[in-house]
Amino acid sequence: MEIYRTNNYYEMSCKAAGIIAAQVILKPDSVLGLATGSTPEGIYQQLIGKYNKGELDFSKVKTVNLDEYKGLDKSNDQSYQYYMFNKLFRHINIKAENYYLPNGMAKDSKEECESYDQLIQDLGNIDLQLLGLGQNGHIGFNEPDDHFPKGTHLVALAQSTIQANSRFFEKDEDVPRYAYTMGIGNIMQAKKIVVVVNGRQKADILKQVVSGPITPNVPASILQLHKDVTIVGDREALSLL
Ligand code: F6R
Repeated sequence: MEIYRTNNYYEMSCKAAGIIAAQVILKPDSVLGLATGSTPEGIYQQLIGKYNKGELDFSKVKTVNLDEYKGLDKSNDQSYQYYMFNKLFRHINIKAENYYLPNGMAKDSKEECESYDQLIQDLGNIDLQLLGLGQNGHIGFNEPDDHFPKGTHLVALAQSTIQANSRFFEKDEDVPRYAYTMGIGNIMQAKKIVVVVNGRQKADILKQVVSGPITPNVPASILQLHKDVTIVGDREALSLL
């Protein structure tokens, strides 16, 4: 694992955006695996800035997102489709047919999971996967468990995740209980992985991820086995390493 130390959220975002930009410049038809949440927002702003300056061209880029809530459609401002469209896709020249997220409104969950796995395979796997880190060690919505799930699946979100997400919803009962997520197998097949982590509240879990035992109880600990992982953290998140 390569670890980049940065001083703050802004520097973390610039550094990670630089790595993604390099990927797109070197391979204009890259398949990028993308994440939502608060951590990557600064990265997306940096990428939009680079695009506006003419430094980046997304016309051949394809993207697959890690996850989506079950039951939310793209018009719901808490859906990940809405997030991605408004925070990145509508600001750059990516083609509408080239970005993918699991369909939260799919009628048949099993079929949706199988077709998402097939899609990733048809794209030739992910060149660079961007990951945030949950405070319980989750990546995507692969929550602490007794095994590492391989492919895309429907998960019952952990109570701590539901609680963390509740800040975005007006009423508690509106917070989704289920989500589609790529599995650990999909993530581990990515050629390169970039994990972004900021804030003191992630320091303990990041320490376990990097130097603790590899266990499905800390899903991100499996990243120790991947041959090309870069962690970009701010000073606070890296304070215990
Ligand atoms: C989001 C995702 C999640 C988040 C994680 C951290 O697509 O897959 O694993 O990356 O929950 O979220 P933030 O960045 O909000 O702390």
